[in-house]
Amino acid sequence: MKTPGEYATLLKSMKREWLWLWHYMLRYRLGILVYIVIGLAGTAMSLGTGLAAKFLIDAVVSHNSGVLIKSAVLAVSLSLLSIAVSAASQRIASIVSTRIASEVRAEIYDHIITARWEDVCKFHSGELLNRLEGDVSTVSGYIISFIPNAVTRLTMFVGCLAIVLYYDVTMAAIALISAPFLLLLSRFSAKMIRKYSLQSREINGRVLSYSEESIQNLQTIKAFDLTDRYSAQLRTLLSEHRRLRLAHDRFSLTLSACMSVIGLIVGNLCYAWSVFRLWTGRISLGTMTLFLQITGYLSSSFSALVSLAPTAITAATAAGRIMEITELPREDDTLCEAAGAVLAAARTSGIAVEAHGVRYTYHDANTPVLDGVSFCASPGETVALVGPSGEGKTTILRMLLGLISPNEGTILLRAGDAEVSASAAARRLCAYVPQSSAMFSGTVAENLRIAAPTASDADLERALRDADAWEFLSTLPDGIHTRMGERGYNFSEGQLQRLSIARALLCRAPLLILDEATSALDTATESRVLAGIMRTDFPRTCILTTHRPAILACCDKVYRVEDGHVRTAEAAQPQEP
Ligand SMILES: Nc1ncnc2c1ncn2[C@@H]1O[C@H](COP(=O)(O)OP(=O)(O)OP(=O)(O)O)[C@@H](O)[C@H]1O
Ligand SMILES: [Mg+2]
Repeated sequence: MKTPGEYATLLKSMKREWLWLWHYMLRYRLGILVYIVIGLAGTAMSLGTGLAAKFLIDAVVSHNSGVLIKSAVLAVSLSLLSIAVSAASQRIASIVSTRIASEVRAEIYDHIITARWEDVCKFHSGELLNRLEGDVSTVSGYIISFIPNAVTRLTMFVGCLAIVLYYDVTMAAIALISAPFLLLLSRFSAKMIRKYSLQSREINGRVLSYSEESIQNLQTIKAFDLTDRYSAQLRTLLSEHRRLRLAHDRFSLTLSACMSVIGLIVGNLCYAWSVFRLWTGRISLGTMTLFLQITGYLSSSFSALVSLAPTAITAATAAGRIMEITELPREDDTLCEAAGAVLAAARTSGIAVEAHGVRYTYHDANTPVLDGVSFCASPGETVALVGPSGEGKTTILRMLLGLISPNEGTILLRAGDAEVSASAAARRLCAYVPQSSAMFSGTVAENLRIAAPTASDADLERALRDADAWEFLSTLPDGIHTRMGERGYNFSEGQLQRLSIARALLCRAPLLILDEATSALDTATESRVLAGIMRTDFPRTCILTTHRPAILACCDKVYRVEDGHVRTAEAAQPQEP
Protein backbone atom coordinates (compact mmCIF):
# COMPACT_ATOMS: atom_id res chain seq x y z
CA MET A 1 0.00 0.00 0.00
CA LYS A 2 1.24 3.45 -0.86
CA THR A 3 1.17 6.26 1.69
CA PRO A 4 -0.54 9.59 0.75
CA GLY A 5 2.94 11.14 0.39
CA GLU A 6 3.98 8.42 -2.07
CA TYR A 7 0.76 8.93 -4.03
CA ALA A 8 1.44 12.67 -4.21
CA THR A 9 4.97 12.01 -5.54
CA LEU A 10 3.59 9.49 -8.05
CA LEU A 11 0.97 11.95 -9.27
CA LYS A 12 3.55 14.72 -9.49
CA SER A 13 5.88 12.61 -11.60
CA MET A 14 2.99 11.43 -13.82
CA LYS A 15 1.98 15.05 -14.35
CA ARG A 16 5.52 15.89 -15.48
CA GLU A 17 5.52 12.86 -17.79
CA TRP A 18 2.20 13.87 -19.38
CA LEU A 19 3.44 17.41 -19.84
CA TRP A 20 6.44 15.99 -21.67
CA LEU A 21 4.12 13.95 -23.90
CA TRP A 22 1.89 16.98 -24.41
CA HIS A 23 4.88 18.98 -25.65
CA TYR A 24 5.40 16.35 -28.37
CA MET A 25 1.67 16.27 -29.21
CA LEU A 26 1.81 20.01 -29.80
CA ARG A 27 4.79 19.56 -32.06
CA TYR A 28 2.97 16.99 -34.23
CA ARG A 29 -0.40 18.75 -34.06
CA LEU A 30 -0.90 18.82 -37.83
CA GLY A 31 -0.57 15.03 -38.22
CA ILE A 32 -2.75 14.54 -35.16
CA LEU A 33 -5.38 16.91 -36.60
CA VAL A 34 -5.51 15.00 -39.89
CA TYR A 35 -5.83 11.77 -37.95
CA ILE A 36 -8.71 13.25 -35.92
CA VAL A 37 -10.55 14.46 -39.03
CA ILE A 38 -10.25 11.03 -40.65
CA GLY A 39 -11.32 9.36 -37.39
CA LEU A 40 -14.38 11.61 -37.18
CA ALA A 41 -15.28 10.84 -40.78
CA GLY A 42 -15.06 7.12 -39.92
CA THR A 43 -17.34 7.64 -36.93
CA ALA A 44 -19.89 9.52 -39.04
CA MET A 45 -19.84 6.69 -41.61
CA SER A 46 -20.50 4.05 -38.94
CA LEU A 47 -23.42 5.99 -37.50
CA GLY A 48 -24.72 6.74 -41.01
CA THR A 49 -24.50 3.05 -41.96
CA GLY A 50 -26.60 2.19 -38.89
CA LEU A 51 -29.26 4.74 -39.82
CA ALA A 52 -29.25 3.63 -43.47
CA ALA A 53 -29.77 0.02 -42.32
CA LYS A 54 -32.76 1.13 -40.20
CA PHE A 55 -34.40 2.87 -43.17
CA LEU A 56 -33.65 -0.12 -45.36
CA ILE A 57 -35.36 -2.59 -43.00
CA ASP A 58 -38.35 -0.26 -42.46
CA ALA A 59 -38.65 0.08 -46.26
CA VAL A 60 -38.58 -3.73 -46.65
CA VAL A 61 -41.28 -4.15 -43.97
CA SER A 62 -43.47 -1.41 -45.48
CA HIS A 63 -42.77 -2.51 -49.10
CA ASN A 64 -41.58 1.01 -50.00
CA SER A 65 -39.35 0.29 -53.00
CA GLY A 66 -38.22 3.96 -53.51
CA VAL A 67 -36.79 4.25 -49.98
CA LEU A 68 -35.50 0.68 -50.18
CA ILE A 69 -33.25 1.39 -53.17
CA LYS A 70 -31.99 4.71 -51.79
CA SER A 71 -31.26 3.19 -48.35
CA ALA A 72 -29.53 0.18 -49.90
CA VAL A 73 -27.32 2.41 -52.06
CA LEU A 74 -26.56 4.62 -49.04
CA ALA A 75 -25.74 1.65 -46.77
CA VAL A 76 -23.44 0.03 -49.35
CA SER A 77 -21.70 3.34 -50.21
CA LEU A 78 -21.15 4.19 -46.56
CA SER A 79 -19.78 0.72 -45.84
CA LEU A 80 -17.33 1.01 -48.74
CA LEU A 81 -16.33 4.52 -47.67
CA SER A 82 -15.80 3.25 -44.10
CA ILE A 83 -13.30 0.70 -45.42
CA ALA A 84 -11.43 3.42 -47.33
CA VAL A 85 -11.46 5.79 -44.36
CA SER A 86 -10.21 3.10 -41.99
CA ALA A 87 -7.34 2.25 -44.38
CA ALA A 88 -6.47 5.96 -44.73
CA SER A 89 -6.52 6.43 -40.98
CA GLN A 90 -4.18 3.45 -40.45
CA ARG A 91 -1.84 4.77 -43.13
CA ILE A 92 -1.73 8.26 -41.60
CA ALA A 93 -1.14 6.78 -38.15
CA SER A 94 1.81 4.74 -39.38
CA ILE A 95 3.31 7.64 -41.37
CA VAL A 96 3.12 10.02 -38.41
CA SER A 97 4.08 7.50 -35.73
CA THR A 98 7.15 6.27 -37.65
CA ARG A 99 8.19 9.91 -38.12
CA ILE A 100 7.67 10.64 -34.44
CA ALA A 101 9.54 7.46 -33.47
CA SER A 102 12.57 8.28 -35.63
CA GLU A 103 12.70 11.94 -34.57
CA VAL A 104 12.29 11.16 -30.87
CA ARG A 105 14.88 8.38 -31.19
CA ALA A 106 17.35 10.75 -32.85
CA GLU A 107 16.77 13.34 -30.13
CA ILE A 108 17.29 10.83 -27.33
CA TYR A 109 20.46 9.62 -29.07
CA ASP A 110 21.69 13.24 -29.19
CA HIS A 111 20.95 13.56 -25.48
CA ILE A 112 22.94 10.41 -24.76
CA ILE A 113 25.99 11.55 -26.68
CA THR A 114 25.94 15.14 -25.46
CA ALA A 115 25.16 14.43 -21.80
CA ARG A 116 27.98 14.47 -19.28
CA TRP A 117 30.02 11.33 -19.71
CA GLU A 118 30.00 10.28 -16.08
CA ASP A 119 26.21 10.60 -15.86
CA VAL A 120 25.65 8.50 -18.99
CA CYS A 121 28.02 5.84 -17.62
CA LYS A 122 25.55 5.24 -14.77
CA PHE A 123 23.30 3.47 -17.30
CA HIS A 124 24.17 0.12 -18.81
CA SER A 125 24.44 0.45 -22.59
CA GLY A 126 21.83 -2.33 -22.98
CA GLU A 127 19.44 -0.33 -20.83
CA LEU A 128 20.06 2.77 -22.95
CA LEU A 129 19.25 0.72 -26.07
CA ASN A 130 16.13 -0.61 -24.38
CA ARG A 131 14.89 2.94 -23.75
CA LEU A 132 15.93 4.11 -27.19
CA GLU A 133 13.91 1.32 -28.82
CA GLY A 134 11.11 0.04 -26.59
CA ASP A 135 10.16 3.16 -24.66
CA VAL A 136 10.39 5.39 -27.72
CA SER A 137 8.04 3.04 -29.67
CA THR A 138 5.52 3.17 -26.83
CA VAL A 139 5.51 6.95 -26.58
CA SER A 140 5.46 7.58 -30.33
CA GLY A 141 2.38 5.33 -30.78
CA TYR A 142 0.71 7.14 -27.92
CA ILE A 143 1.57 10.65 -29.11
CA ILE A 144 -0.16 10.08 -32.47
CA SER A 145 -3.13 8.09 -31.26
CA PHE A 146 -4.18 9.37 -27.84
CA ILE A 147 -6.00 12.60 -28.73
CA PRO A 148 -7.54 11.23 -31.98
CA ASN A 149 -8.75 8.13 -30.13
CA ALA A 150 -10.17 10.24 -27.31
CA VAL A 151 -11.93 12.58 -29.75
CA THR A 152 -13.34 9.90 -32.06
CA ARG A 153 -14.45 7.60 -29.21
CA LEU A 154 -16.07 10.50 -27.43
CA THR A 155 -17.83 11.61 -30.62
CA MET A 156 -19.01 8.07 -31.26
CA PHE A 157 -20.24 7.83 -27.68
CA VAL A 158 -22.09 11.17 -27.78
CA GLY A 159 -23.50 10.46 -31.28
CA CYS A 160 -24.80 7.04 -30.28
CA LEU A 161 -26.23 8.39 -27.05
CA ALA A 162 -28.00 11.19 -28.95
CA ILE A 163 -29.55 8.72 -31.43
CA VAL A 164 -30.69 6.32 -28.70
CA LEU A 165 -32.02 9.19 -26.54
CA TYR A 166 -33.91 10.51 -29.55
CA TYR A 167 -35.74 7.20 -30.01
CA ASP A 168 -35.88 5.82 -26.45
CA VAL A 169 -34.59 7.27 -23.15
CA THR A 170 -34.95 3.99 -21.22
CA MET A 171 -32.84 2.21 -23.80
CA ALA A 172 -30.07 4.79 -23.27
CA ALA A 173 -30.19 4.19 -19.50
CA ILE A 174 -29.92 0.41 -20.01
CA ALA A 175 -27.01 0.82 -22.44
CA LEU A 176 -25.10 2.89 -19.89
CA ILE A 177 -25.74 0.56 -16.96
CA SER A 178 -22.19 -0.76 -17.40
CA ALA A 179 -20.53 2.66 -16.94
CA PRO A 180 -19.90 2.55 -13.15
CA PHE A 181 -18.53 -1.02 -13.36
CA LEU A 182 -16.19 -0.11 -16.18
CA LEU A 183 -14.95 2.95 -14.30
CA LEU A 184 -14.25 0.81 -11.22
CA LEU A 185 -12.43 -1.77 -13.33
CA SER A 186 -10.32 0.91 -14.99
CA ARG A 187 -9.37 2.46 -11.66
CA PHE A 188 -8.15 -0.92 -10.44
CA SER A 189 -6.43 -1.78 -13.73
CA ALA A 190 -4.60 1.57 -13.93
CA LYS A 191 -2.42 0.75 -10.92
CA MET A 192 -1.71 -2.77 -12.13
CA ILE A 193 -0.84 -1.57 -15.63
CA ARG A 194 1.70 0.95 -14.30
CA LYS A 195 3.24 -1.79 -12.19
CA TYR A 196 3.36 -4.30 -15.07
CA SER A 197 4.70 -1.83 -17.62
CA LEU A 198 7.49 -0.74 -15.28
CA GLN A 199 8.41 -4.35 -14.48
CA SER A 200 8.26 -5.39 -18.08
CA ARG A 201 10.49 -2.54 -19.33
CA GLU A 202 12.93 -3.25 -16.52
CA ILE A 203 13.24 -6.96 -17.29
CA ASN A 204 13.50 -6.16 -21.02
CA GLY A 205 16.44 -3.92 -20.18
CA ARG A 206 18.08 -6.67 -18.16
CA VAL A 207 17.70 -9.23 -20.96
CA LEU A 208 19.06 -6.75 -23.51
CA SER A 209 21.99 -5.70 -21.32
CA TYR A 210 22.86 -9.30 -20.56
CA SER A 211 22.72 -10.39 -24.22
CA GLU A 212 24.64 -7.34 -25.43
CA GLU A 213 27.38 -7.72 -22.82
CA SER A 214 27.82 -11.44 -23.33
CA ILE A 215 28.00 -11.09 -27.13
CA GLN A 216 30.61 -8.33 -26.70
CA ASN A 217 32.64 -10.63 -24.45
CA LEU A 218 32.14 -13.82 -26.43
CA GLN A 219 35.86 -14.51 -26.62
CA THR A 220 36.23 -14.43 -22.82
CA ILE A 221 33.10 -16.55 -22.33
CA LYS A 222 34.46 -19.18 -24.68
CA ALA A 223 37.99 -18.99 -23.25
CA PHE A 224 36.69 -19.68 -19.75
CA ASP A 225 34.39 -22.37 -21.14
CA LEU A 226 31.39 -20.51 -19.78
CA THR A 227 28.98 -20.98 -22.69
CA ASP A 228 26.73 -23.40 -20.77
CA ARG A 229 26.61 -21.13 -17.75
CA TYR A 230 25.81 -18.06 -19.83
CA SER A 231 23.10 -19.93 -21.76
CA ALA A 232 21.58 -21.09 -18.49
CA GLN A 233 21.70 -17.59 -16.99
CA LEU A 234 20.01 -16.12 -20.05
CA ARG A 235 17.32 -18.78 -19.78
CA THR A 236 16.76 -17.86 -16.14
CA LEU A 237 16.33 -14.22 -17.13
CA LEU A 238 14.06 -15.17 -20.02
CA SER A 239 11.91 -17.36 -17.80
CA GLU A 240 11.48 -14.41 -15.43
CA HIS A 241 10.55 -12.35 -18.49
CA ARG A 242 8.08 -15.04 -19.59
CA ARG A 243 6.58 -15.33 -16.09
CA LEU A 244 5.98 -11.60 -16.04
CA ARG A 245 4.51 -11.60 -19.55
CA LEU A 246 2.15 -14.41 -18.62
CA ALA A 247 1.11 -12.64 -15.41
CA HIS A 248 0.44 -9.51 -17.44
CA ASP A 249 -1.41 -11.54 -20.03
CA ARG A 250 -3.55 -13.26 -17.35
CA PHE A 251 -4.40 -9.87 -15.94
CA SER A 252 -5.37 -8.47 -19.36
CA LEU A 253 -7.45 -11.55 -20.17
CA THR A 254 -9.28 -11.38 -16.84
CA LEU A 255 -9.93 -7.70 -17.40
CA SER A 256 -11.23 -8.18 -20.92
CA ALA A 257 -13.33 -11.19 -19.80
CA CYS A 258 -14.92 -9.00 -17.08
CA MET A 259 -15.59 -6.30 -19.66
CA SER A 260 -17.06 -8.87 -22.09
CA VAL A 261 -19.38 -10.28 -19.40
CA ILE A 262 -20.58 -6.75 -18.58
CA GLY A 263 -21.00 -6.06 -22.32
CA LEU A 264 -22.92 -9.33 -22.78
CA ILE A 265 -25.31 -8.57 -19.92
CA VAL A 266 -25.91 -5.03 -21.19
CA GLY A 267 -26.28 -6.26 -24.79
CA ASN A 268 -28.87 -8.85 -23.76
CA LEU A 269 -30.76 -6.32 -21.64
CA CYS A 270 -30.87 -3.94 -24.63
CA TYR A 271 -31.95 -6.82 -26.85
CA ALA A 272 -34.76 -7.81 -24.43
CA TRP A 273 -35.89 -4.19 -24.11
CA SER A 274 -36.01 -3.64 -27.88
CA VAL A 275 -37.87 -6.94 -28.40
CA PHE A 276 -40.36 -5.78 -25.76
CA ARG A 277 -40.76 -2.38 -27.49
CA LEU A 278 -41.20 -4.08 -30.86
CA TRP A 279 -43.67 -6.54 -29.34
CA THR A 280 -45.73 -3.67 -27.90
CA GLY A 281 -45.54 -1.89 -31.26
CA ARG A 282 -43.70 1.17 -29.89
CA ILE A 283 -40.82 0.84 -32.33
CA SER A 284 -40.38 -0.44 -35.87
CA LEU A 285 -38.20 -3.42 -36.85
CA GLY A 286 -35.71 -0.97 -38.42
CA THR A 287 -35.46 1.01 -35.17
CA MET A 288 -34.88 -2.21 -33.26
CA THR A 289 -32.00 -3.11 -35.61
CA LEU A 290 -30.63 0.40 -35.21
CA PHE A 291 -30.83 0.08 -31.42
CA LEU A 292 -28.98 -3.19 -31.39
CA GLN A 293 -26.21 -1.80 -33.56
CA ILE A 294 -25.96 1.57 -31.83
CA THR A 295 -26.05 0.20 -28.28
CA GLY A 296 -23.16 -2.06 -29.28
CA TYR A 297 -21.24 1.02 -30.45
CA LEU A 298 -22.26 2.87 -27.30
CA SER A 299 -20.83 0.35 -24.88
CA SER A 300 -17.73 -0.35 -27.01
CA SER A 301 -16.93 3.37 -27.31
CA PHE A 302 -17.42 3.77 -23.58
CA SER A 303 -15.01 0.86 -22.85
CA ALA A 304 -12.54 2.39 -25.32
CA LEU A 305 -12.81 5.74 -23.52
CA VAL A 306 -12.25 4.04 -20.18
CA SER A 307 -9.25 2.11 -21.49
CA LEU A 308 -7.56 5.36 -22.53
CA ALA A 309 -6.51 5.83 -18.91
CA PRO A 310 -4.35 2.68 -18.68
CA THR A 311 -2.85 3.50 -22.10
CA ALA A 312 -1.94 6.94 -20.82
CA ILE A 313 -0.34 5.37 -17.77
CA THR A 314 1.78 2.98 -19.86
CA ALA A 315 2.90 5.89 -22.05
CA ALA A 316 3.66 8.08 -19.03
CA THR A 317 5.79 5.27 -17.56
CA ALA A 318 7.77 5.03 -20.81
CA ALA A 319 8.03 8.84 -21.00
CA GLY A 320 9.42 8.91 -17.45
CA ARG A 321 12.13 6.43 -18.41
CA ILE A 322 13.04 8.53 -21.46
CA MET A 323 13.04 11.71 -19.37
CA GLU A 324 15.65 10.16 -17.07
CA ILE A 325 17.93 10.40 -20.11
CA THR A 326 16.77 13.71 -21.56
CA GLU A 327 17.18 15.36 -18.16
CA LEU A 328 20.80 14.30 -17.72
CA PRO A 329 22.96 17.42 -17.49
CA ARG A 330 24.52 18.36 -20.81
CA GLU A 331 28.21 18.94 -21.29
CA ASP A 332 29.22 22.57 -20.99
CA ASP A 333 30.14 23.89 -24.43
CA THR A 334 30.07 27.58 -23.53
CA LEU A 335 33.83 27.87 -23.92
CA CYS A 336 33.88 27.33 -27.70
CA GLU A 337 35.11 30.83 -28.45
CA ALA A 338 37.93 30.65 -25.89
CA ALA A 339 38.91 27.21 -27.22
CA GLY A 340 38.98 28.62 -30.77
CA ALA A 341 41.32 31.43 -29.66
CA VAL A 342 43.66 28.93 -27.96
CA LEU A 343 43.63 26.72 -31.06
CA ALA A 344 44.56 29.64 -33.31
CA ALA A 345 47.41 30.75 -31.01
CA ALA A 346 48.63 27.17 -30.47
CA ARG A 347 49.36 26.74 -34.18
CA THR A 348 52.38 29.01 -33.75
CA SER A 349 53.22 29.03 -30.06
CA GLY A 350 52.18 25.51 -29.02
CA ILE A 351 50.04 24.74 -26.02
CA ALA A 352 50.78 24.60 -22.29
CA VAL A 353 48.82 22.57 -19.72
CA GLU A 354 48.59 23.78 -16.11
CA ALA A 355 46.77 21.88 -13.39
CA HIS A 356 46.39 23.50 -9.96
CA GLY A 357 45.01 21.91 -6.78
CA VAL A 358 42.82 19.42 -8.65
CA ARG A 359 40.61 17.27 -6.48
CA TYR A 360 38.26 14.66 -7.88
CA THR A 361 36.03 11.92 -6.48
CA TYR A 362 34.07 9.57 -8.77
CA HIS A 363 30.32 9.80 -8.05
CA ASP A 364 30.15 6.28 -6.62
CA ALA A 365 33.39 6.43 -4.61
CA ASN A 366 33.92 7.58 -1.02
CA THR A 367 37.49 8.81 -1.26
CA PRO A 368 38.99 11.19 -3.81
CA VAL A 369 41.10 9.59 -6.51
CA LEU A 370 42.99 12.89 -6.94
CA ASP A 371 43.52 15.14 -3.94
CA GLY A 372 45.14 18.53 -4.59
CA VAL A 373 47.01 17.58 -7.74
CA SER A 374 49.20 20.12 -9.60
CA PHE A 375 51.40 19.59 -12.66
CA CYS A 376 52.30 21.39 -15.85
CA ALA A 377 53.47 20.77 -19.41
CA SER A 378 55.11 23.56 -21.41
CA PRO A 379 54.52 24.01 -25.16
CA GLY A 380 56.23 21.26 -27.17
CA GLU A 381 57.08 19.16 -24.11
CA THR A 382 56.43 15.47 -23.74
CA VAL A 383 55.26 14.72 -20.22
CA ALA A 384 54.78 11.25 -18.76
CA LEU A 385 52.43 10.23 -15.96
CA VAL A 386 53.62 7.04 -14.30
CA GLY A 387 52.75 5.14 -11.17
CA PRO A 388 50.98 2.05 -9.91
CA SER A 389 47.81 0.79 -11.51
CA GLY A 390 44.54 2.30 -10.35
CA GLU A 391 46.04 5.49 -8.92
CA GLY A 392 44.45 8.02 -11.28
CA LYS A 393 46.52 8.42 -14.47
CA THR A 394 43.60 7.77 -16.84
CA THR A 395 41.43 9.94 -14.58
CA ILE A 396 43.79 12.88 -15.19
CA LEU A 397 43.58 12.31 -18.95
CA ARG A 398 39.77 12.20 -18.74
CA MET A 399 39.94 15.62 -17.11
CA LEU A 400 42.18 16.97 -19.83
CA LEU A 401 39.57 15.76 -22.32
CA GLY A 402 36.75 17.39 -20.35
CA LEU A 403 35.01 14.04 -19.83
CA ILE A 404 34.99 14.75 -16.10
CA SER A 405 35.56 18.06 -14.30
CA PRO A 406 37.55 18.70 -11.13
CA ASN A 407 35.49 19.05 -7.95
CA GLU A 408 38.07 21.62 -6.89
CA GLY A 409 41.00 23.26 -8.66
CA THR A 410 41.56 24.07 -12.32
CA ILE A 411 43.11 22.62 -15.45
CA LEU A 412 44.00 25.30 -17.97
CA LEU A 413 45.13 24.94 -21.58
CA ARG A 414 47.12 28.01 -22.54
CA ALA A 415 48.56 29.28 -25.83
CA GLY A 416 50.15 32.75 -25.91
CA ASP A 417 47.70 35.05 -24.12
CA ALA A 418 44.69 32.83 -24.74
CA GLU A 419 43.54 30.22 -22.25
CA VAL A 420 40.63 27.86 -21.73
CA SER A 421 39.66 25.37 -19.04
CA ALA A 422 39.85 21.71 -19.98
CA SER A 423 36.25 21.05 -21.02
CA ALA A 424 34.02 19.63 -23.73
CA ALA A 425 34.60 22.75 -25.85
CA ALA A 426 38.39 22.43 -25.48
CA ARG A 427 38.43 18.88 -26.89
CA ARG A 428 39.19 20.25 -30.32
CA LEU A 429 42.66 21.04 -28.96
CA CYS A 430 43.31 17.39 -28.19
CA ALA A 431 44.07 14.20 -30.07
CA TYR A 432 43.54 11.09 -27.99
CA VAL A 433 44.68 7.50 -28.02
CA PRO A 434 42.68 5.51 -25.44
CA GLN A 435 44.05 2.79 -23.19
CA SER A 436 42.14 0.12 -25.14
CA SER A 437 41.87 1.00 -28.79
CA ALA A 438 38.45 2.03 -30.07
CA MET A 439 37.73 1.26 -33.70
CA PHE A 440 34.45 1.41 -35.55
CA SER A 441 33.01 -0.81 -38.27
CA GLY A 442 34.21 0.34 -41.68
CA THR A 443 37.54 0.45 -43.48
CA VAL A 444 40.86 1.49 -41.97
CA ALA A 445 40.74 4.71 -44.02
CA GLU A 446 37.24 5.49 -42.75
CA ASN A 447 38.41 4.96 -39.18
CA LEU A 448 41.37 7.29 -39.66
CA ARG A 449 39.24 9.97 -41.31
CA ILE A 450 37.00 10.11 -38.24
CA ALA A 451 39.66 12.45 -36.84
CA ALA A 452 40.36 14.31 -40.08
CA PRO A 453 37.52 13.98 -42.61
CA THR A 454 39.35 15.93 -45.34
CA ALA A 455 42.67 14.07 -45.08
CA SER A 456 44.04 12.83 -48.41
CA ASP A 457 45.35 9.30 -48.96
CA ALA A 458 48.87 10.79 -48.80
CA ASP A 459 48.09 12.28 -45.35
CA LEU A 460 46.84 8.88 -44.21
CA GLU A 461 50.02 7.23 -45.46
CA ARG A 462 52.22 9.76 -43.64
CA ALA A 463 50.34 9.27 -40.34
CA LEU A 464 50.41 5.49 -40.76
CA ARG A 465 54.16 5.57 -41.44
CA ASP A 466 54.74 7.71 -38.33
CA ALA A 467 52.72 5.23 -36.28
CA ASP A 468 54.68 2.34 -37.84
CA ALA A 469 51.44 0.92 -39.23
CA TRP A 470 52.14 1.40 -42.92
CA GLU A 471 54.35 -1.64 -43.29
CA PHE A 472 51.80 -4.21 -42.15
CA LEU A 473 48.87 -2.40 -43.76
CA SER A 474 50.49 -2.11 -47.19
CA THR A 475 50.92 -5.89 -47.31
CA LEU A 476 47.17 -6.42 -47.04
CA PRO A 477 45.37 -6.83 -50.39
CA ASP A 478 43.09 -3.86 -49.78
CA GLY A 479 45.65 -1.70 -47.96
CA ILE A 480 44.03 1.27 -46.24
CA HIS A 481 40.66 0.11 -47.59
CA THR A 482 40.79 -3.12 -45.60
CA ARG A 483 37.55 -3.59 -43.70
CA MET A 484 37.72 -3.67 -39.91
CA GLY A 485 35.36 -6.03 -38.13
CA GLU A 486 33.41 -4.90 -35.11
CA ARG A 487 35.88 -3.15 -32.78
CA GLY A 488 38.62 -4.19 -35.21
CA TYR A 489 38.55 -7.86 -34.17
CA ASN A 490 40.46 -8.87 -37.31
CA PHE A 491 43.59 -6.93 -36.22
CA SER A 492 46.02 -7.60 -33.40
CA GLU A 493 46.05 -5.39 -30.28
CA GLY A 494 49.42 -3.92 -31.24
CA GLN A 495 48.19 -3.19 -34.79
CA LEU A 496 45.05 -1.55 -33.41
CA GLN A 497 47.17 0.60 -31.09
CA ARG A 498 49.26 1.77 -34.02
CA LEU A 499 46.14 2.54 -36.07
CA SER A 500 44.76 4.49 -33.10
CA ILE A 501 48.01 6.45 -32.89
CA ALA A 502 47.90 7.16 -36.64
CA ARG A 503 44.34 8.46 -36.25
CA ALA A 504 45.45 10.79 -33.43
CA LEU A 505 48.46 12.05 -35.39
CA LEU A 506 46.29 12.72 -38.41
CA CYS A 507 44.12 15.28 -36.67
CA ARG A 508 47.15 17.53 -35.98
CA ALA A 509 45.81 18.77 -32.65
CA PRO A 510 48.27 20.80 -30.52
CA LEU A 511 47.82 18.49 -27.51
CA LEU A 512 48.39 14.77 -27.96
CA ILE A 513 47.08 12.54 -25.16
CA LEU A 514 48.27 8.95 -25.11
CA ASP A 515 46.94 6.50 -22.52
CA GLU A 516 49.34 3.55 -22.48
CA ALA A 517 49.21 3.78 -26.23
CA THR A 518 52.16 1.45 -26.85
CA SER A 519 51.51 -1.11 -24.12
CA ALA A 520 50.90 -3.94 -26.62
CA LEU A 521 54.00 -3.24 -28.74
CA ASP A 522 57.36 -5.00 -28.67
CA THR A 523 60.31 -2.78 -27.71
CA ALA A 524 61.63 -2.31 -31.27
CA THR A 525 58.22 -1.36 -32.67
CA GLU A 526 57.60 0.89 -29.66
CA SER A 527 60.84 2.84 -30.34
CA ARG A 528 59.88 3.32 -34.00
CA VAL A 529 56.38 4.46 -33.01
CA LEU A 530 57.80 6.89 -30.41
CA ALA A 531 60.24 8.30 -32.96
CA GLY A 532 57.34 8.79 -35.37
CA ILE A 533 55.23 10.51 -32.71
CA MET A 534 58.07 12.92 -31.87
CA ARG A 535 58.60 13.73 -35.57
CA THR A 536 56.32 16.72 -35.83
CA ASP A 537 56.38 19.76 -38.08
CA PHE A 538 54.30 21.88 -35.68
CA PRO A 539 54.58 22.59 -31.93
CA ARG A 540 52.85 19.71 -30.20
CA THR A 541 52.61 19.03 -26.49
CA CYS A 542 52.25 15.40 -25.55
CA ILE A 543 50.94 13.98 -22.28
CA LEU A 544 51.15 10.25 -21.92
CA THR A 545 50.70 7.58 -19.30
CA THR A 546 52.89 4.52 -19.27
CA HIS A 547 54.17 1.60 -17.26
CA ARG A 548 57.12 1.18 -19.69
CA PRO A 549 60.45 2.67 -18.50
CA ALA A 550 61.81 2.75 -22.08
CA ILE A 551 59.44 5.56 -22.99
CA LEU A 552 60.69 7.84 -20.22
CA ALA A 553 63.92 8.56 -22.09
CA CYS A 554 61.88 10.47 -24.71
CA CYS A 555 60.07 12.56 -22.09
CA ASP A 556 60.94 16.05 -20.88
CA LYS A 557 59.15 15.57 -17.55
CA VAL A 558 57.95 12.59 -15.59
CA TYR A 559 55.27 12.79 -12.91
CA ARG A 560 54.39 10.02 -10.53
CA VAL A 561 50.68 9.60 -9.72
CA GLU A 562 50.15 7.89 -6.39
CA ASP A 563 47.96 8.14 -3.26
CA GLY A 564 45.90 10.92 -4.81
CA HIS A 565 48.97 13.10 -5.42
CA VAL A 566 51.19 13.92 -8.37
CA ARG A 567 54.89 14.45 -7.74
CA THR A 568 57.82 14.90 -10.09
CA ALA A 569 59.59 11.58 -10.54
CA GLU A 570 62.73 12.94 -8.85
CA ALA A 571 60.68 13.89 -5.78
CA ALA A 572 59.03 10.49 -5.81
CA GLN A 573 62.27 8.49 -6.18
CA PRO A 574 63.61 5.92 -5.50
CA GLN A 575 60.49 4.04 -6.72
CA GLU A 576 60.28 2.56 -10.20
CA PRO A 577 57.61 3.81 -12.66
N1 LIG B 1 34.19 5.58 -14.15
C1 LIG B 1 34.67 5.33 -12.92
N2 LIG B 1 33.82 5.34 -11.88
C2 LIG B 1 34.28 5.11 -10.63
N3 LIG B 1 35.56 4.86 -10.31
C3 LIG B 1 36.44 4.84 -11.30
C4 LIG B 1 36.04 5.07 -12.66
N4 LIG B 1 37.13 4.97 -13.43
C5 LIG B 1 38.16 4.71 -12.60
N5 LIG B 1 37.75 4.62 -11.33
C6 LIG B 1 38.59 4.38 -10.15
O1 LIG B 1 39.51 5.43 -10.06
C7 LIG B 1 40.80 4.95 -9.72
C8 LIG B 1 41.81 5.43 -10.74
O2 LIG B 1 41.52 4.84 -11.98
P1 LIG B 1 42.38 5.16 -13.27
O3 LIG B 1 41.76 4.47 -14.40
O4 LIG B 1 42.55 6.62 -13.36
O5 LIG B 1 43.74 4.47 -12.87
P2 LIG B 1 45.09 4.37 -13.71
O6 LIG B 1 46.15 5.00 -12.90
O7 LIG B 1 44.88 4.84 -15.09
O8 LIG B 1 45.30 2.79 -13.68
P3 LIG B 1 45.99 1.86 -14.80
O9 LIG B 1 47.45 2.08 -14.72
O10 LIG B 1 45.63 0.50 -14.34
O11 LIG B 1 45.40 2.22 -16.11
C9 LIG B 1 40.68 3.45 -9.63
O12 LIG B 1 40.60 3.10 -8.26
C10 LIG B 1 39.37 3.12 -10.31
O13 LIG B 1 38.73 2.06 -9.66
MG1 LIG C 1 44.75 3.87 -16.93
